[in-house]
Amino acid sequence: LHVIHIAAEMAPVAKVGGLGDVLSALSKALQRKGHLVEIVLPKYDCMQYESIQDLRVLDLVVESYFDGKLFKNKIWIGTVEGLPVYFIEPLHPAKLFWRGKTYGEPDDLKRFSFFSRAALELLHQAGKKPDIIHCHDWQTAFVAPLYWDLYAPKGLNSARICFTCHNFEYQGTAPASDVASCGLDVHHLNRPDRMQDHSSPDRLNPVKGAIVFSNIVTTVSPTYAEEVRTAQGGQGLHATLNAHAQKFVGILNGIDTDYWNPATDSFLKFQYNASDLEGKAENKKALQRLLGLSFSDSRRPLVGCITRLVPQKGVHLIRHAIYRSLELGGQFVLLGSSPVPNIRREFEEIARQFENHEHVRLILKYDEALSHSIYASSDMFIIPSIFEPCGLTQMIAMRYGAIPIARKTGGLNDSVFDVDDDTIPVQLRNGYTFVTPDEQGFNGAFDRAFNRFKSDNEGWQELINKVMNIDFSWDTSASQYEELYLQSVSRARAARR
Ligand code: ADP
Ligand code: GLC
Repeated sequence: LHVIHIAAEMAPVAKVGGLGDVLSALSKALQRKGHLVEIVLPKYDCMQYESIQDLRVLDLVVESYFDGKLFKNKIWIGTVEGLPVYFIEPLHPAKLFWRGKTYGEPDDLKRFSFFSRAALELLHQAGKKPDIIHCHDWQTAFVAPLYWDLYAPKGLNSARICFTCHNFEYQGTAPASDVASCGLDVHHLNRPDRMQDHSSPDRLNPVKGAIVFSNIVTTVSPTYAEEVRTAQGGQGLHATLNAHAQKFVGILNGIDTDYWNPATDSFLKFQYNASDLEGKAENKKALQRLLGLSFSDSRRPLVGCITRLVPQKGVHLIRHAIYRSLELGGQFVLLGSSPVPNIRREFEEIARQFENHEHVRLILKYDEALSHSIYASSDMFIIPSIFEPCGLTQMIAMRYGAIPIARKTGGLNDSVFDVDDDTIPVQLRNGYTFVTPDEQGFNGAFDRAFNRFKSDNEGWQELINKVMNIDFSWDTSASQYEELYLQSVSRARAARR
């Protein structure tokens, strides 16, 4: 199969969160299965350019429509993690991707609807004939309706469209006129069964459009796929998802087990594996030294948390966990950044409060290298999310021998299983879970983890060994995508005959 991903993120060149990880790891897994996989990204000024090999401009200037005019786009190609990646540089006076950041600009809708149109134009003008065009999240959701309206008739017509929604909280809704700028015919789209937003007839919803117009719709875990089909969890899209249930499926993400591997991780001072954990203890001491934390007591558990600080992640429980760790005799390290001003201010205040504390450190920024040290140094790792489409940090933590304490929601419910839950097969049990998103609920899991750590060293070591040996690779999940692609392609071929 020839698969082309169109997306706003890809690790490590342009990563904000889990979407970036998924883009590169899923693509690599599909490539290993023998498929031709290509990726189209915006050419951000703030990319990690050192991770791109052989970056060069193509002798192809792609013209794309926006706001009543045609704009030229410079097209670059390079190799990232062994994958061919096209980078689109719009020659647009608003310098759409020359902003020093990936998202969070007031004109994000314009930036990414422009990009979606330009990406399709690139495929068309470069004469690509993909079997699958796979787009991700609201930023590239425009691809689905644009494709059927404008590009399928132009000859790109054998492609099937797959849309993966990594988080239904972000839908990119906007006034119809803004959405129309990229050339979408909003008159036929502005209907309740197409792209019209549920909250107002004057607004269009790109994610809804992608659900309606894609051949395959996925989200990133089976439990989240069920949750979003309910009025409580669907962020307004449950009715649409139910109407299109036959093409909607939840596939649990994996992680890139080559990149996230404590035995080879070059970010770590000391590499280690499940049968020799000495390096893990050394990393913990090195991190404690680096952060100015006390390291006199090696039996003091270190609790880690690495996250975007947004309401989804259960920030009130993260805050509570800092104080609870101290009460229980632990240490706490948070690495987090926040796009939400009041949450950022709140955590900056807590960070100041603990500036010189011997057992707590808050580092409020994005730091890839430090994240690896924290995964490697943590004895426990908390993910108290209010909702979580999949979540990758619990899987990475386990790979590095940190025991997860997670709320039972979305993908956490599909990957973390309580060690004390007799209803779950014993071989699956790998961490501590709770349901009620309040302090008491959290303590119910957290306190049990501390008790076990302190009272049963042998049992704890066995648990570390077990979680480090779980297979979180993409192999199984990539096969599920492959299967969906193949079914869709063969259905289309049968329909054409
Ligand atoms: P989400 O995509 O919702 O943020 P995921 O758990 O799917 O959550 O993925 C988060 C990814 O981003 C992980 O790879 C995690 O290590 C990384 N990450 C999150 N915050 C930071 C940070 N402050 N510094 C470095 N890496 C981070
Ligand atoms: C989103 C979700 C997260 C998921 C990631 C990758 O950012 O919030 O749960 O793991 O996408 O699919």
